[in-house]
Amino acid sequence: MHTKEEIYYCKPVFRPPSEGYSLLIQVTEGCTYKCDFCVSNIGKKFLVREVDNVKKDLDTAKRIYGSNVKRIFFLDGNAMVTPTEKLLELTKYSMKIFPNLERCGVYAHAKDILKKSDIQLKELSNAGLKIAYIGFESGYDKLLEDIHKHATRDDYIKASNKLMKANITLSATFINGLGGANNPEISKTHALESADLVNKICPDDDRIWYIAFLTLMTPSGTEIFKRMAKGEFQEMNSVEILRELKEFIKNVKFQNKSANCIFRSNHASNYLPIKGVLDRDKEKIIEVLNYGITHSDILRPDFYRGL
Ligand SMILES: C[S@@+](CC[C@H](N)C(=O)[O-])C[C@H]1O[C@@H](n2cnc3c(N)ncnc32)[C@H](O)[C@@H]1O
Ligand code: SF4
Repeated sequence: MHTKEEIYYCKPVFRPPSEGYSLLIQVTEGCTYKCDFCVSNIGKKFLVREVDNVKKDLDTAKRIYGSNVKRIFFLDGNAMVTPTEKLLELTKYSMKIFPNLERCGVYAHAKDILKKSDIQLKELSNAGLKIAYIGFESGYDKLLEDIHKHATRDDYIKASNKLMKANITLSATFINGLGGANNPEISKTHALESADLVNKICPDDDRIWYIAFLTLMTPSGTEIFKRMAKGEFQEMNSVEILRELKEFIKNVKFQNKSANCIFRSNHASNYLPIKGVLDRDKEKIIEVLNYGITHSDILRPDFYRGL
């Protein structure tokens, strides 16, 4: 009897929106961290899969999709934590069996990048690991501590520099509304320190890099959900969220006028879809935000928002 070939997944899996058409390959399961807002490691025990088992999945994918695969995303929450030799072997193997493969990508906690040497990162990049998605969440250290991110703005500056030096594209996400309602000072500092962080990591050339803002969701099972249930945390409303984002955009000021920072705030969690290039499109983005702030009826309703 012929049994259907299947690629293994430890569900549920999460991937960046921009990897929507990529082949997803499970390299790790869960995450080595436990941030207060995240569901990535809930119900999963962290492990790095055996290289041979991952290679079997790559072989299966090759039989299913042939040579059509252009992008691979290595799951799970922080697959960059995988020991370099293993990640290198899997990246090289992927490039070997898929002749049209343009790149492999991973989620990375900043500390996973800092633990790798410049030489190791360069080896990974040369092999085909060309993009890393880091969750910055904020540039404000106190907020990072409050959400148990286990990373600081200084870690983000160092990790971004290391990635750029190795020619691995940086894609970083921030979260609007992290400080909660009734905290205008925290919201303001979150916006200002996040803008300052982005200003500091801006490269002095015209390479492409990505900054995205998601809006806080509070899924059940997370620490933030528990704090909300106890009345210790309240979500910001849509207009407060847009004001916070406006404060961020206003304060992005790059010295390098040919910077190519692709900005997106068009995730399913966001109230208003926004796209542009920073800091070139600042004024246009602020106009769109002002429109959203004064016309809250056009914003995405909460029941349509998701992760
Ligand atoms: C699956 S995580 C991987 C990032 C990577 N592990 C890190 O921490 O640097 C992807 C990103 O989705 C966003 N995210 C996760 N849970 C969220 C939530 N409840 N609300 C808004 N954004 C969330 C965060 O920006 C997070 O860094
Ligand atoms: S945000 Fe990233 S590091 Fe934090 S728990 Fe989720 S996947 Fe892990």
